[in-house]
Amino acid sequence: MDQSTLSRRGAHSGLLAHKLPRLENMVREIARDFSPAALASSLGAEDMVLTDAVLRLGVEVEIFTLNTGKLHPETLALMDAVESRYRYRIRTFEPDPRTVQAFLEAHGEEGIYRSLTARKRCCEIRKLAPLRLALKGKRAWITGLRREQSVTRADIQEREIDAQHGLAKFNPLAHWSEEEVWDYLRAFDVPYNLLHDQGFRSIGCAPCTRPVAPGEDPRAGRWWWEAPASRECGLHVAPDGKLVRSKQVQP
Ligand code: ADX
Ligand code: SF4
Repeated sequence: MDQSTLSRRGAHSGLLAHKLPRLENMVREIARDFSPAALASSLGAEDMVLTDAVLRLGVEVEIFTLNTGKLHPETLALMDAVESRYRYRIRTFEPDPRTVQAFLEAHGEEGIYRSLTARKRCCEIRKLAPLRLALKGKRAWITGLRREQSVTRADIQEREIDAQHGLAKFNPLAHWSEEEVWDYLRAFDVPYNLLHDQGFRSIGCAPCTRPVAPGEDPRAGRWWWEAPASRECGLHVAPDGKLVRSKQVQP
């Protein structure tokens, strides 16, 4: 898309002009050279940029969501909006119901607030085990991670090798700002999660995510009752709590 078209669509064309072609080239390359590949979508703003890029370009990349059973109604509704807009149904992976039941019998619904061990176990059951299933047989996965999101993400690369899951990992928005994400969503009129209009800047499960005040850290609403160092669920960090360090994959 040229700059004048972007301007007409209300985007800050200067911001998007150089990042858009890079994103599109990367998405095409992943589909061509790393098939089968998948995009992990939390249905937050970054993942809607990637969803639009994949579906607009018509490349073969599966889009999936880990439906933890604890997502907000607004998040679930966005899957329907994506289907209406793009004629594409996002695939969902659910946790094992018996394991969830056993967890609830042991800890109750409130256990995640009382114990970090219980909270991490909940993430293991509802997110990490389903993620392993979603990535099975895949050669690459794509995420919406951005460097600016937190100190733990400050040195992520666009192309990495995910040693934990044993496949390539692409973070095409690693160098994007939040403003650029929203520029893109406006430019392409992409449906977005209505929670963002209520002050949510990072979107996770309902019991563990709350809106943030202006000026607050964008991820301050995630597991807000915990110390900042533990506020990750393990999707992108190793069991020892460190961000999974991975080599940069060669183009
Ligand atoms: S998290 O580790 O704290 O949950 P965050 O919400 O910032 O991560 O999302 C970072 C990236 O992880 C998203 O852009 C997306 O690629 C992936 N992700 C997070 N939650 C989900 C989910 N429920 N389903 C699929 N992918 C997810
Ligand atoms: Fe459970 Fe909260 Fe983790 Fe979701 S984010 S899996 S509800 S602990």
